[in-house]
Amino acid sequence: MGGHVSEKAASFVQESSEWVRKPRGIDANLKNYGKVYKTFKWKNAEKEFDWHKTKKVNVVHEMIDRHANSARKDKTALHYWDPAPSAGNPRGREEKYTFLDLKDQSSRFGNVLKKFGVKKGDRVAVFLPRTPELYISILGINRLGASPVPLVEAFMEEALFDRLSNSEASAVVTAPALLSRIPFKKLPSLKHLFLAGEKDAAGFECPGGVDAHDYFEEVQSASPSLAPVWLSLDDGLVIHYTSGSTGRSKGVLHRQYAMVGHYQTAKWALDLGDDDVYWCTADPGWVTGTSYGIYGPWTLGISSLVLGGRFSAELWYRAIEKYKVSMWYSAPTAFRLLMSQGKELAKKFNLKSLRHICSVGEPLNPEALRWVRDLTGIAPHETWWMTETGMQIVCNYRSLDFKIGSTGKSFPGTVASIIDDKGREVPPNTLGNLAVKTGWPSMMTEIWGNKEKYDEYFRIKGWYLSGDTAYKDKDGFIWFAGRADDVIKTAGERVGPFEVESALVQHPAVAEAGVIGKPDAVRGQIIKAYISLRQGHSASETLKKEIADFVKRTMAGHAAPREIEFCERVPKTRSGKIMRRVLRAWDQGLPVGDTSTMEE
Ligand code: WTA
Repeated sequence: MGGHVSEKAASFVQESSEWVRKPRGIDANLKNYGKVYKTFKWKNAEKEFDWHKTKKVNVVHEMIDRHANSARKDKTALHYWDPAPSAGNPRGREEKYTFLDLKDQSSRFGNVLKKFGVKKGDRVAVFLPRTPELYISILGINRLGASPVPLVEAFMEEALFDRLSNSEASAVVTAPALLSRIPFKKLPSLKHLFLAGEKDAAGFECPGGVDAHDYFEEVQSASPSLAPVWLSLDDGLVIHYTSGSTGRSKGVLHRQYAMVGHYQTAKWALDLGDDDVYWCTADPGWVTGTSYGIYGPWTLGISSLVLGGRFSAELWYRAIEKYKVSMWYSAPTAFRLLMSQGKELAKKFNLKSLRHICSVGEPLNPEALRWVRDLTGIAPHETWWMTETGMQIVCNYRSLDFKIGSTGKSFPGTVASIIDDKGREVPPNTLGNLAVKTGWPSMMTEIWGNKEKYDEYFRIKGWYLSGDTAYKDKDGFIWFAGRADDVIKTAGERVGPFEVESALVQHPAVAEAGVIGKPDAVRGQIIKAYISLRQGHSASETLKKEIADFVKRTMAGHAAPREIEFCERVPKTRSGKIMRRVLRAWDQGLPVGDTSTMEE
């Protein structure tokens, strides 16, 4: 491990032996973790799926059609609410879709895609705000056996180009307001656009070779019946682009069999049951928003809430009250943002419907955990996992006592452990690499078009290396320590420093840029850039703002540095690698350590 690991770890390790105790006999789906962990086999979970008998595989059958053909058909699968007024919806949007409605809608959109030549194995990007159309599109794409590539609405041209060109998406479902960001001319594979959103008054010109279709008109005139295209368990399910510490974003491909993992974790870690109203606050542009905003809950036949628009503490509380949300899956930054608005606001709402809360994406600090517990009576339960793991791996469980600050224990059927760089498991309370024994159902099957990158994760035989550092205590609880590499987690979103640096150096004033994650009380980390200027440009607050705006305009708002510091030179090794370790030391006012490899 690199020299900075322990230094970083020290700031994250939160020694605590304060327990959250559970009442005996609590009515959870997973009642006896210890016993189940010893006996559970994934084969047991396979029996829950129709394909186990029919051999016909398609996740849309398992999450939509089989419920639509059962007593659940009129059950609400999707509650949608976006109270913000817009030109076409002056009172906002509030809609309900049953499983039968989703079968109908996703079949229609599947037929539309089929009509325009989309077929099994194709990649179709979905670049939409959180609207019902976003969810229906993903279902329609999966129904046809194609792979959805969900992209968050925040992405700008550069970020879109990377992802659309790498995936060679043949179609994009988007909204007129987002269209100008798509660099059609540089995307020869892109043939079709489906526009699902309010029409832009300005209209748009579609360049030659790309056909634009009105999503709503097409869907309305399409047939509402389309049997799923039957697949094998190894065929594609979804591709998520995510960031590493080097290079551009990479496409993580999951296979259909991942549904087994989504289903079982949604049942045992999220503890979802038929009567729940479940709210996963993540956008499907991030893996949490598909694994646990789509695949997990709907294979279980659960009612889900989707809230459109931006974060607002008041709106979030209102949503819990209005929909009587019983299970809530969110992130530490969100809890801290709510906390920063104070308890007075929260107390205006009735939050008594909540019975279970889980957290993901970054470490949940004890203070935020206690705050949520004081407010709702429920301690948020940690779930640790990654885009690459596809499903939750290390969790705290509703029926199991846990220690505040710890990430929990391996999900039944998985083995997460702490290993050294040679692959040896280390003794308790020793910091090491957090790794997972290969072979769980939703382990990624490919980094799209990059075998070398894929193999890097598995360089120690039999293990998947997460890139996180952690330790296990004597009671078997895993404690997250930090990243072993330079990947940044800001407000729970994963950002690669290289991508931000590449965007920064395109600004005419920037000579060199080095980017790090700086610890932040609310967002976990914020993006900080060290920048050296080209001759003829001088440092100023205005220039800082202009540079940050430039990244917002070209990449995405969440990738823009919140803090910029100008420096004479960005420290690099003689071979030209940016020494982010030195930048972190500068930022914290600490000694920079060994600089023998630094260029003169
Ligand atoms: C971090 C999100 C601490 C971790 C599902 C991991 C966490 C990265 C936790 C993956 C947690 C996720 N406690 N850290 N409970 N959950 N992380 O791919 O560093 O966006 O490697 O997947 O988030 O981020 P990703």
